[in-house]
Amino acid sequence: MWIQASVLIIIVSCISPSLSIEPVTGVTAVIAAVGSLIYTSYDALRCRFVPCCNNRWIIENITGLEIALTSKLHGQHLVQRTVVGHIKGHLRSSDPSKALVLSFHGLTGVGKNFVSSIIADNLYKDGLRSPYVHLISATKEFPHEGLLPFYKDQLKSWIEGNITICDRSMFIFDEVDKFPATLLDVVKPYIDYYEQLGGVVYRRAIFLFLSNTGGNDIAKLALERWQSGVSRESLELSDVEKILMSSAINADNHNGLWHSQLISSQLITAYIPFLPLEKTHVRKCIVDYLISRKYYSSGGDIPSEVVDKILKELTFDPPTEQLFSTTGCKRVVEKIDYVMLDGTGDAGH
Ligand SMILES: *[C@@H]1O[C@H](CO)[C@@H](O)[C@H](O)[C@H]1NC(C)=O
Ligand SMILES: *[C@@H]1O[C@H](CO)[C@@H](O)[C@H](O)[C@H]1NC(C)=O
Repeated sequence: MWIQASVLIIIVSCISPSLSIEPVTGVTAVIAAVGSLIYTSYDALRCRFVPCCNNRWIIENITGLEIALTSKLHGQHLVQRTVVGHIKGHLRSSDPSKALVLSFHGLTGVGKNFVSSIIADNLYKDGLRSPYVHLISATKEFPHEGLLPFYKDQLKSWIEGNITICDRSMFIFDEVDKFPATLLDVVKPYIDYYEQLGGVVYRRAIFLFLSNTGGNDIAKLALERWQSGVSRESLELSDVEKILMSSAINADNHNGLWHSQLISSQLITAYIPFLPLEKTHVRKCIVDYLISRKYYSSGGDIPSEVVDKILKELTFDPPTEQLFSTTGCKRVVEKIDYVMLDGTGDAGH
C-alpha cells in the first residue's frame, strides 16, 4: 500500500513536469523512502506471525532431520543413509542445478508417508500444515479419469502458483502408482535443468514421489537375503536399484511413474527403497506408539507381554517364514487401541 502510494506520487510528479519544481521532487523522494521503510518493517512484523517464505518459517533443520530419521524410523538403513545426504546437498546451494526429486518405493506401512512428514517437520515450521508443503494424492485429488485434461491444467497451475509464491516449496505426490502417466508428465518441466521458466525459478523446490511400485520386488530381495543368512543391513542401494530398474522395464500397468517421461529423461534425483518390516522393527513401532498414545511414559518399562499381544494381532508374510509384517507398521495404532482398551489388555493404564 505504501509503496503504491509513493510510486503514484513519483509518477504524478514525472508526468506533470510543470508541477515538479525541484523542492517537490525532493519531498517526493523522502516520502517514497519513508513509505518503503514503513512497508519493509510492516512486512517484517507481519512475517513474525503469518507464514512467509523465509527462514523463520522454512527452518531447514538438518540436525533435527538426522536425529528424527535415526530415532523414529525403524528398519530402513538405506533410507536413513540417503535421504539426509540428498536434502542436505540440495539445501546447501542457494542455486541448485535442478529441483530435488526423490522417489520412495516400498509396500504399505514401511514408512514412506512417515518419512515425508519427518522431512516436512524438520524443513518447515508447520510441517505438513505449512502453506509451502503440498500433499497431493491421486485418489483424493484426481479421482475421475475422464477429467484428465482438466487435472493436468490444475496440477500445472498448482505447481506454478505455489512456487511463484515460494521457491522453497515441497510437493509430496502420494500413491504415484495411481497417477496416470501423462498427468505426471506435467511435472517434467519443473524438475528439469532450466534456469527459469516464464521468469520463475523452480530449481529450489523439492518433489517427493511415493509409490508401492517395486515394493514386491524389494520384499523378494530382502527375503532371499534373509534366507541365505545375509544381514539385512548389508543390502546396498545399488542392489535394490538394479531390481527397481528391471521392474520398471517389465511393468505391465500403464499408470504411474514407470511410464512417465520422468524416468526416461533421468530427472529423478534418487530412488529410495523401503524394505519390508520384520518383527523386531514392528516391536519398536509398537513401543513408540504405546508411548506417544500415553499408555506408558517414555523411559518407563513396557512389559514384553503387552508388545507380544499387539504383535499377535498383525499378520506376517510369507506364510511359512512369517517374516515380514503385511501392513508394516501401518495398522499398529488401531491394534494398540483395540488391545489396550479391550478388557483383555490387562497391563497398562
Ligand atoms: C532442530 O531439531 C532439533 C531436534 O529436534 C532441536 O533440538 C533443535 O532445537 C532444532 N533446531 C532449530 C534451529 O530449530
Ligand atoms: C497450491 O497448491 C494447493 C494444492 O496443494 C492448491 O490448492 C492451491 O490452489 C495452490 N496455490 C496456488 C497459488 O496455485
